[in-house]
Amino acid sequence: MKLWKGRFQKEADPKTNDFNSSISIDSRMYKEDIEGSIAHATMLGACGIIAQSESDKICAELEKIAADIESGALSIDPDAEDIHTFVEGELTARIGDAGKRLHTARSRNDQVALDVRLTLRKACAGLIGQLKELISVLCDQAEEYADAVMPGYTHLQRAQPITFGHHLMAYAEMFLRDIGRLQDAVKRMDVCPLGSGALAGTTYPLDRDLTAKLLGFSAVSRNSLDGVADRDFCAEIAAAVSIAMVHLSRFSEEIILWCSWEFKFIELDDAFSTGSSIMPQKKNPDITELIRGKSGRVFGDLMALLTMMKGLPLAYNKDMQEDKEAVFDAVDTLRLCLTPFIPMLKTMRVLKDNMRNAAAKGFINATDCADYLVAAKGLPFRDAYKITGELVALCIDRGLTLETLPLDEYRKVCDAFDEGVYTAINLEKCVNDRKVKGAPCPENVRAAAKEVRALLN
Ligand code: ARG
Repeated sequence: MKLWKGRFQKEADPKTNDFNSSISIDSRMYKEDIEGSIAHATMLGACGIIAQSESDKICAELEKIAADIESGALSIDPDAEDIHTFVEGELTARIGDAGKRLHTARSRNDQVALDVRLTLRKACAGLIGQLKELISVLCDQAEEYADAVMPGYTHLQRAQPITFGHHLMAYAEMFLRDIGRLQDAVKRMDVCPLGSGALAGTTYPLDRDLTAKLLGFSAVSRNSLDGVADRDFCAEIAAAVSIAMVHLSRFSEEIILWCSWEFKFIELDDAFSTGSSIMPQKKNPDITELIRGKSGRVFGDLMALLTMMKGLPLAYNKDMQEDKEAVFDAVDTLRLCLTPFIPMLKTMRVLKDNMRNAAAKGFINATDCADYLVAAKGLPFRDAYKITGELVALCIDRGLTLETLPLDEYRKVCDAFDEGVYTAINLEKCVNDRKVKGAPCPENVRAAAKEVRALLN
């Protein structure tokens, strides 16, 4: 059934009808659509715009429609133009004239702007919950491995000693900011557009504040054109989700590296790994590779939203129907990625000895050796740096490490060296001495985990 019957003499061409329809994407908003309609009908009744008895009838039947869709007793017609049309059509089929009054002082333009907000509000709450769970697992693991020494990298070259706990807490910080970005987006989206009508509000004496209150919004939109014409909230959420996907993708990349025989810092639980159809020895980190891959589609969603909006005159344009597929895909993808990622992290086996061995091999205490010459022997840092560089070259030449290079070799390069250098370059000491705020010493890691956990509540 078409809503605009009066103006038209012909039925829509069937293929054009399919092309125009958004039901395959927006049927997932049926609950939100009905919730919005109940609030609207309640307000219409309270303001005397429709009779109270009709308002009651509409609301009661809408509840039944929601329950029937939920139970499967009513299936959503795939030929309907969109979910708004379907629900209104079903209501009218059930209760007749009262149903025809529901759309008084409302347009699908403000209706859809509302429904998408309600849907995204829920989706974001779910994502925030998942991110909190992820951070909490990171805090647990960071505490457990607060003193597991590993090499920190720059340029993927071994650089300076850190701990595995410190490395994990770096991601906890990133995911905390992702939560903040989602919360900010939800806060800015917290205005009810109902009452904006098609674009120019309405002449009916609506109580917009009542509708907003019934739907749990803190305010109503101030400008009717803006209320129906913008989708910045979709772009903002897709941007926040994209950044979270960047974080998840980088983390995934590291997990992939750590699982390789070249690193072997961790081993994933069998339940979160996959094998090969031909190579019997393989255990692949597919989950993380998929996450890394899926980040691209989320960035695509963001690009689609921005590009879709950038040339549109005010107010509503049908282009905007494309908003839902993109932003829903973005939030769904992040949700799907987090679902296996969290238990995968929780169950990973951490091979501390391998990390410690890797830390012993890449001269990651070279800075500490130079710092020893500065602190204990008073050399200027730049001289100490040069001397240590020569020592590293010497070690590479002889197949030694700074720990195994004999003292007389040290002294040939600089006679200020004494036995104390071996204590200074001990990796555990190097990590323990990194006590400045934000640095990786185990006490800092434990304190950070505690602080971050407190922020989650
Ligand atoms: N299905 C439409 C959408 O998702 C609903 C709004 C339609 N409004 C209109 N004037 N055609 O955007």
